Amino acid sequence: MSHSYSDGRTLNFSSNSTFEQVLEARLSRRGLMKGAAALAVAGSLPLAGCATGLKREAVLGFRGISVSTADAVRVPEGYAANVLYAWGDPVGHPSGAPAFRADATNTADEQALQAGMHHDGIHYFPLPYGSDNSANGLLVMNHEYTDDGLLHAGGFADWSAEKVRKAQNAHGCSVIEVRNRGGQWEVVRPSPFARRITARTPMRIAGPAAGSAGMKTAADPAGTTVLGTFNNCAHGYTPWGTFLTCEENWDTYFTNSGTLTADQKRNGVSPKGRGYRWNEFDERFDAGKHPREPNRHGWVVEFDPYDPQSQPVKRTALGRFSHEGAWTATANDGRLVVYLGDDRRFEYIYKFVSRDAWNRSDRRANAGILDHGTLYVARFSDDGSGKWLPLVHGQDRLTAENGFADQAEVLIRTRAAADAAGATKMDRPEWIAVHPATNEVYCTLTNNSQRGGKNRAGTDRANPRANNVFGQIIRWRESGNDPAALDFQWDLFAVAGDPQHPEPARHGNIKGDAYGSPDGLWFDDSGMLWIQTDVSASTIGKNHYARLGNNQMLAADIRTGETRRFLTGPAGCEVTGVVMTPDARTMFINIQHPGESPKGRNDPKNPKAHGSWPDGDAGGRPRSATVVIRKKDGGVIGS
Ligand code: FEO
Ligand code: CA
Ligand code: CA
Repeated sequence: MSHSYSDGRTLNFSSNSTFEQVLEARLSRRGLMKGAAALAVAGSLPLAGCATGLKREAVLGFRGISVSTADAVRVPEGYAANVLYAWGDPVGHPSGAPAFRADATNTADEQALQAGMHHDGIHYFPLPYGSDNSANGLLVMNHEYTDDGLLHAGGFADWSAEKVRKAQNAHGCSVIEVRNRGGQWEVVRPSPFARRITARTPMRIAGPAAGSAGMKTAADPAGTTVLGTFNNCAHGYTPWGTFLTCEENWDTYFTNSGTLTADQKRNGVSPKGRGYRWNEFDERFDAGKHPREPNRHGWVVEFDPYDPQSQPVKRTALGRFSHEGAWTATANDGRLVVYLGDDRRFEYIYKFVSRDAWNRSDRRANAGILDHGTLYVARFSDDGSGKWLPLVHGQDRLTAENGFADQAEVLIRTRAAADAAGATKMDRPEWIAVHPATNEVYCTLTNNSQRGGKNRAGTDRANPRANNVFGQIIRWRESGNDPAALDFQWDLFAVAGDPQHPEPARHGNIKGDAYGSPDGLWFDDSGMLWIQTDVSASTIGKNHYARLGNNQMLAADIRTGETRRFLTGPAGCEVTGVVMTPDARTMFINIQHPGESPKGRNDPKNPKAHGSWPDGDAGGRPRSATVVIRKKDGGVIGS
């Protein structure tokens, strides 16, 4: 989600500046870290990216494409891109397959059996579990948010319980079965696996905060069950074949008719919310009347796509904030490590390390792995070293005297705990990718126009530019290449920008094709790094972004740093979500919010004012969609 549409307000006004930040602010005032000097840190981390252990060698074999302002998906010569699953398409549930109506008159019940809106993080799970089937599998994806101007005939006019229910049913996740028939991918309908998870699906609360005082509400006095998940941005998956869906800008759905609590303020809950209007017909979204309901959102949710009856579980041990995604690695001793970004300006990067090793032979034995372990938050020091700071009740300042009653409260108020620990305020942490052979970790810091602003944190070497409109990609290597280590070395892989920009400080240092606002990030199994951008619809093609065209996807060879543009998206969209089949001959990506208005929601009277992809003149409105990319000769993607 771009921040023109969500609530991008700065929420972190904590005074936990590290010594390095204080020093840096001083240096910055003297002008020593401006422009090119600030970028000197990039490229300093000795790379292990050429390590062996990869399935195949990374090859940038395609011809890069130009920037684009076309209302179309463009891919390199020799490739084809086809829409597979757009908002409103039937999910393929055995109980029914209502067709999409282009005038948006599908009912709430029909929406619950159709693709949600605003596709985001996506993963491919081969069928059956444990196979490497590249012709039949499950695609699991998030539907991050809704544009109610497009979702309903008439938009917000005649706002009703039915429209709220339809909006809630357009959120959450899809599980679809897909198969390749002679080079053509299709959704299998019906499929026993087909499923929609929505903002109304009952889910269990697990981990240290389950059943704690902070999780109890009038509707759930036990504090162990909650309805739904929403604003699911990116994702992750476990090595035992479950999907992790991550609740990002959940706060924007709540209003508060009373007085905001300190925690609600720290997490962005505001008196009027951001216009979803669910509170008008679903009272739990009034955080004045139900002050603990917001505590039950902002988590990572795990579910098993191979078992359509399984209940999703909110894993509270992974903390509560604006979760972008949850990306896993296995520690040298077999424990699971989960890297987590909090996508707000000046928020933090976290990792969770499980208490126990995960079980490789019995996937069901891993049901509680994410409930026991330690959550850490990152501190990036200016000398290129870093530390993971534990968020454990009773340690350092996380005590009852300082307002944290127990570990449940540390987790519910993760941001406050991280403030107290002295974490480094980052430029909006988005996706994280772990290199498949070296365990090096890369993270997009998408942008932060308020860096260095009045009453805001100044620059540091991890976040080196004031008014950072283009973003950067940071990377780190854990001590001993062990994901569970508590120390690391870091540098900046790329500082995004436009080499043609009139201000030299905004050129960045990308070697190859230019981009800004990196968001999606994924390593394929050759170690090629795929980068997707999310320039907000209000900014695409304007001002600093005048020369960078629509949002895009690029491939970067981390051994050389060379970056090449692979795809450009339609007007107004964000490109997000990428995965390949195990044979690397099919890529799935998501196009989110094509045709989005620069102002946010579209006008229901003129739904195609800003774009009409993918249906064009024949369609009634733009639709987010999953796109299949194949090489026309059937070859490996990227080669
Ligand atoms: Fe939903 Fe942080 O992008
Ligand atoms: Ca984004
Ligand atoms: Ca994102």
